[in-house]
Amino acid sequence: MMINDKNDVDRLQAVWRDFRAYLEYERDEGHARIIVMDTTRQRVESWAAPPQSRASSAKAVTAPPVSSVAASSISPETSEASTLGEIARDIAACTRCDLARTRTNTVPGHGHPRPQLLFIGEAPGEEEDRQGLPFVGRSGALLTRMIKRMGLSRDEVFIANILKCRPPGNRTPTSAERETCRPFLERQIATLSPAVIVILGATALHGLLQVETAISQSRGVWHEYRGIPVMPTYHPSYLLRNLKARFDTWDDMLQVLDRIGRRPPPIDDHKGKS
Ligand code: URA
Repeated sequence: MMINDKNDVDRLQAVWRDFRAYLEYERDEGHARIIVMDTTRQRVESWAAPPQSRASSAKAVTAPPVSSVAASSISPETSEASTLGEIARDIAACTRCDLARTRTNTVPGHGHPRPQLLFIGEAPGEEEDRQGLPFVGRSGALLTRMIKRMGLSRDEVFIANILKCRPPGNRTPTSAERETCRPFLERQIATLSPAVIVILGATALHGLLQVETAISQSRGVWHEYRGIPVMPTYHPSYLLRNLKARFDTWDDMLQVLDRIGRRPPPIDDHKGKS
């Protein structure tokens, strides 16, 4: 890459910050070394491309401008919080499908009542069913680290699932279960009014956008749900087994941060967030 002016220097610095953030992320995951292949090197070089060419290479579907509500400016005592409470009570009382018979707790979701980001996963697992909270198991730990790496905390975003009850044995939700549960998620999204939705994995992709495309095809490309920009990416449990996909997911999260006008913080800043 030729360095011609200050913009090039700024871009290179941004690339280096992103790459450092990625290396730190891997280190936090307990990986002492990574193997950098040619494709990876090319990808890192492509980060230095001007923003316009990055957007076009991602086959972006145009999404509307984002309102940036300062997450911390809204107290939890809002009408959104009380509506979310009502939705959670309706979920707790729900017996619309058989999962009501096997669940320990319903898992409506957790987070800020007016978040910039809404993360949507698949369904509660064993630990989530036990605690009544989303993403508190192994894949949840990875999601939490990713959110921190983005410079946010779990309390500043909202985390929900397509299904609010655990499918026995953590099997994949059926399309009938997705449809039965869908109205709860629709009410939550209408209340939360997030600036951006991040879809985690194929079940959330199919459940929310009602498309049948593979997550590997859809990730990294902007979609839209009722005027809200949606970024699909891999599910954290897939990332636990697939290192290369973490790199892709981090790229997707950088697009999400761009969209809400944020950048990942310098490496040492994220550690205080819980
Ligand atoms: N996987 C999910 O999709 N959601 C959870 O809450 C936990 C694991």
